[in-house]
Amino acid sequence: MTATPSVRRTVRVPGDKSISHRSLILAALSNGTSAIRGLLRSADVDSTAAVLAALGARIESDGNAVTVRGLGLRGLTSCRRPLDCGNSGTTARLMCGVLAAHSFDSTLIGDASLSRRPMRRVTEPLGEMGAHFTFQEHSDGLPLVVHGGTLDSIGWRSRTASAQVKSAILLAALNAQVSATVTEPHRSRDHTERMLAARGVPVTIDGETISIGVARSMEAMDCNVPGDPSSAAFFVALAALSGARPIELPDVCVNPTRTGFLDVIQRMGATVQLTDESDAGGEPTATIRASGGEYLRAVTVGADEIPSMIDELPMLACLGARAEGETVIHGAGELRVKESDRIAAVVRNLRAIGADAEELPEGMVIRGSPAPLAGRIDTHGDHRLAMAFGVLGALDGNSIEIDMPDCVAVSYPSFWSDLRRVAP
Ligand code: S3P
Repeated sequence: MTATPSVRRTVRVPGDKSISHRSLILAALSNGTSAIRGLLRSADVDSTAAVLAALGARIESDGNAVTVRGLGLRGLTSCRRPLDCGNSGTTARLMCGVLAAHSFDSTLIGDASLSRRPMRRVTEPLGEMGAHFTFQEHSDGLPLVVHGGTLDSIGWRSRTASAQVKSAILLAALNAQVSATVTEPHRSRDHTERMLAARGVPVTIDGETISIGVARSMEAMDCNVPGDPSSAAFFVALAALSGARPIELPDVCVNPTRTGFLDVIQRMGATVQLTDESDAGGEPTATIRASGGEYLRAVTVGADEIPSMIDELPMLACLGARAEGETVIHGAGELRVKESDRIAAVVRNLRAIGADAEELPEGMVIRGSPAPLAGRIDTHGDHRLAMAFGVLGALDGNSIEIDMPDCVAVSYPSFWSDLRRVAP
């Protein structure tokens, strides 16, 4: 009897980036040693680890787990050198909140892309709490000096649905041992709230309003970081674009504030099933099994769905280029202030490879076609652009070159080898 060749394609995506940053930061602020398993090892998370180490946290890796010896709330120690956040907005904004409550000055710097990204969205509420800031070169970007100190409680109504803004405020309040309430226009990813609650910090959630009460200390806690749904999305898209043979993605975070892309791609005609549903330290996880049908149809997504799929929008736009009809993304002005202006960059690159796309002030329109796509992608060093167009490039008939393939190191260093292994 001959063995049936395996028809399964499986990708174990690396740990979730948002949860990885937070597990390092919360461990550094806890009393005792925390072991973190499944931590994403990538340039962005390395930036957070290096910043925390420069502020006195002891971070070691033994191959199985990363251990962090915490210093307790307001326990970080000052660092004379600038703290380099690299390309990572999450590092810069969350650490702004943490450092605002520490009674010393710290200078945050970043690469050219990060230095262009807005920081006033966090310095405004933190300033209202009593922190002071000096913008050294730009009116609204790094390098930024945080003059930390004693903070007051705050009730803040955020203009944007941003987990980084919300988390900066919650982390400032946590360290300052004051209460804080943040109201968002739409619910953003809720990892900070979940992780604080799991560590015994009083957190209450009422619709779009999140409040934190005073915790006198936080004890160290071991945790497992589940797979990143934003990394999984590239393979869900590949499966949707490449027919009935499914791709399986085990142990992925399926927190409902992160699964908008799975809902939308099913509306487009893909099949997505969740199995082995479980829980990793307060985060729901599952195996995602995705496959495509005969063809994909266009979709419209708007402001209420955007936060739950914000990082997947470049991939959605690329899917739109292959879907029947007109895909419209609106209410997504935040895309203009990501690692690149993702509205301008995605549209320009779609056109460069022969697709029909145009910009909207806060979104884009893409008209799909089955014609082959070919050309060179100018990623601006933006990891999510490289991977989204990389998926299109992996399809039969397309010929797409990525200018800076190595930029995937920011969130998914092994992306190209995983893609090569499961591409059709
Ligand atoms: C993140 C929040 C989102 C997201 C980013 C990671 C986080 O940014 O785009 O990749 O870990 O809090 P915003 O808070 O700016 O929406």
